[in-house]
Amino acid sequence: MKILVTGFNGQLGFDVVRIGNENGMTMIGTGIEELDITDQTNVDTYVKKIKPDAIIHCAAYTAVDKAEDEKEQSWKVNVEGTKYLVDAAKKNEAKFIYISTDYVFNGEGENPYIETDQPDPVSYYGITKYEGEKVVRDSLEKWFIIRISWVFGINGNNFIKTMLRLSETNSQLNVVGDQYGSPTYTYDLAKLLIDMVKTEKYGIYHVTNEGFCSWYDFANEIFRQANKEVKVNSITTDKFPTKAKRPANSKMSKQKLVDNGFKSLPDWKNAVKHYLNELSNEVK
Ligand SMILES: NC(=O)c1ccc[n+]([C@@H]2O[C@H](COP(=O)([O-])OP(=O)(O)OC[C@H]3O[C@@H](n4cnc5c(N)ncnc54)[C@H](OP(=O)(O)O)[C@@H]3O)[C@@H](O)[C@H]2O)c1
Repeated sequence: MKILVTGFNGQLGFDVVRIGNENGMTMIGTGIEELDITDQTNVDTYVKKIKPDAIIHCAAYTAVDKAEDEKEQSWKVNVEGTKYLVDAAKKNEAKFIYISTDYVFNGEGENPYIETDQPDPVSYYGITKYEGEKVVRDSLEKWFIIRISWVFGINGNNFIKTMLRLSETNSQLNVVGDQYGSPTYTYDLAKLLIDMVKTEKYGIYHVTNEGFCSWYDFANEIFRQANKEVKVNSITTDKFPTKAKRPANSKMSKQKLVDNGFKSLPDWKNAVKHYLNELSNEVK
């Protein structure tokens, strides 16, 4: 199977290409240099030339706070870029996997979100990602929308790397304790995406590592496993103002994934363990 991947220079795209190659797929990983998704002609020509069986669309404008000031650019990448890829997938009859986010939800309420819950994004980034979802489901037949959250992977910046960096110069850190969700390790997710793309079990899925936590819990677990002596203070969201609003409840149910015969991702604490190993092997 030949798979075109966008966002190869980012966290998820990098691992999707790596895992796909390990599984005998023909992976074509593209960064903005080869395939600027906001350039319609470029997208059209490139996809026609490659003729992929599937496109796994991992590229996005992901700077959540900056998106509040750069609305035009985030729309261009997340909505228009997705539209150009979707059009090209349609012409070439390729399957399409669109990566979306927990930020399509408003985060009110206590229960984990299921796939049929109504999105109601509270940030501009969330709005653009939800618009991207609509483009995918309104235009294609062979599509998957995969909503993920709190992503970490070897190829890029993320919460774990930030915590480890801050631990070098701080013995105490304040971390938000009233936003709940689940971390998603790109290595685990990539394996699932490669399994999924072979199937015809199309639709929306919520996919993260198993278990729920707050950012405060997440930070504590990172320091515990990395043997860092850092005191973590739990603070409320209002004490850590950000330009973009975040959902307080980002919990997503993965029941649909299991009901459709897919394997759940490992528990998030196992994912942290594997990732810390991966990071230390990279340093050596
Ligand atoms: N990170 C999270 O916590 C999180 C949470 C939920 C959902 N998601 C979603 O998961 C997916 C993967 O996220 P990630 O963490 O892997 O993101 P990432 O590391 O920021 O990677 C995204 C990649 O997209 C590229 N890109 C931006 N504009 C482009 C363009 N016009 N043409 C081609 N490539 C372009 C970026 O290149 P430059 O670096 O050169 O701009 C970057 O390499 C995204 O769809 C994101 O919305 C992420």
